[in-house]
Amino acid sequence: MTAEGDGPVVVIDDPADPRVSDYVALTDVALRRRREPEQGLFIAEGERVIERALRAGYQPRSVLVSPARRHGVPAGFWARPSPGQPAAPVYVAGPAVLAAITGFEVHRGALASMCRREPLDAARLLATARRVLVCEDLVSHTNLGAIFRSAAGLGMDAVLLSPRCADPLYRRSVRVSMGEVFAVPYARLEPWPAALSLLRMSGFEVVALTPAADAQELTAAWAAPDDRVAVLLGTEGSGLTDEVLATATRRARIPMAHGVDSLNVAATAAIACYVLGLRPPAPSVPSAPSALAGPAR
Ligand SMILES: C[S@@+](CC[C@H](N)C(=O)[O-])C[C@H]1O[C@@H](n2cnc3c(N)ncnc32)[C@H](O)[C@@H]1O
Repeated sequence: MTAEGDGPVVVIDDPADPRVSDYVALTDVALRRRREPEQGLFIAEGERVIERALRAGYQPRSVLVSPARRHGVPAGFWARPSPGQPAAPVYVAGPAVLAAITGFEVHRGALASMCRREPLDAARLLATARRVLVCEDLVSHTNLGAIFRSAAGLGMDAVLLSPRCADPLYRRSVRVSMGEVFAVPYARLEPWPAALSLLRMSGFEVVALTPAADAQELTAAWAAPDDRVAVLLGTEGSGLTDEVLATATRRARIPMAHGVDSLNVAATAAIACYVLGLRPPAPSVPSAPSALAGPAR
């Protein structure tokens, strides 16, 4: 063991070494979906995404790198949570050992195990947000990551998730979002769908996105410019459930051509965020405070 950046550096040559158990079987989705929330951890992959997580204030448990990337560990990794607390360890393993631990070839060369934070409260988020996305039961981590990237890049204040919706901190969501899951505050809405009543109670126009032919055309569906708007997005297969559709004040569709029945939900979200952003912002309602959104990126 050697010290680097004021923290321990440990060479791992046995894939069964318990010190790297956070990184075992990363390709086993069912196992990881259960284990990571239970143990209060998530995995950030690649130096840039790790740096994003650190800048957003997530505390590292450890980092696992190939020898070639050992000196690429972001500087923020070495910061101690508080004086006297030990810095998180850096584990270094060759490509074969890395692959045996994780179950795949680690091309990005760096993986970090990070601590999850206490979940945010949906009612608190809604108290200050103006534009929110609400996702019902999305299954695909790829779609969810892409939705967070659009939400961040197109100015949404928060994302709300049904209890069964995929985990934004799952490795693939984090990677596809390019770390934007750390930038956009999110919360679970429970119980579902009863908690959707919070949207109306908080003064939101609730717009359900559906390809149904009798829905209003999207660009005509937004109400007055200063309205606070919540956009409901449905699951990949069957779309929004009837109970959720019934909570909407409007139903909006993106017209389809060539007999195509619907768009991918992440593509829908990007279009909706863009169209919503074309409206002038209301000066009277503040956007999400930085305390909820995490430190500035
Ligand atoms: C793959 S679609 C589900 C398709 C499903 N057959 C339906 O009728 O909703 C997943 C989600 O994307 C959104 N979506 C997809 N295409 C859309 C469109 N053309 N207009 C509005 N929303 C759309 C809806 O929120 C939908 O619930």
